[in-house]
Amino acid sequence: MPVKILMVCLGNICRSPLAEGILASKLPKHKFTVDSAGTGTWHIGHPPDERSVAVAKKNKISISHQKGRHFSSTDFDAYDYIYVMDNANYSDVITLAKTDLHKEKVQLILNELFPKENVDVPDPYFGLPNGFEIVYNMLDEVCDVIARKLLAKHQ
Ligand code: 4NP
Repeated sequence: MPVKILMVCLGNICRSPLAEGILASKLPKHKFTVDSAGTGTWHIGHPPDERSVAVAKKNKISISHQKGRHFSSTDFDAYDYIYVMDNANYSDVITLAKTDLHKEKVQLILNELFPKENVDVPDPYFGLPNGFEIVYNMLDEVCDVIARKLLAKHQ
């Protein structure tokens, strides 16, 4: 059984598709599955934002095949690790958790880099064009830490 990781943001078109593609590129596919979902419903079935597709492509990662989907309470049992991009995502996801085990699976992704600081990955959707570059670099850095940790834990 592969170890399953879910990346969660609001729209599932900017940050979490990038996080999915970046982490997947750092892990062997036969052992790890990485997916993403959104707490909002606007972009169900949509491909990622073209600005996320472009910054990923520039870094030799393809995310254009991904389709937006809504986070569901069934995801707590379906996934081993659930990484959320910001504090609002954290509240939205934790509200749906029914057990302590479900709650323990949910982590703010940047806490892997800056433990307990509860720093957000900023939402680049309405921001400046270089927001996507900034978000890509943050996610690349934290996904290195996560990949190292997962590889050590699940040998
Ligand atoms: P994401 O960004 O949560 O990183 O995918 C957003 C994309 C779309 C919207 C909000 C955030 N929206 O309101 O449509």
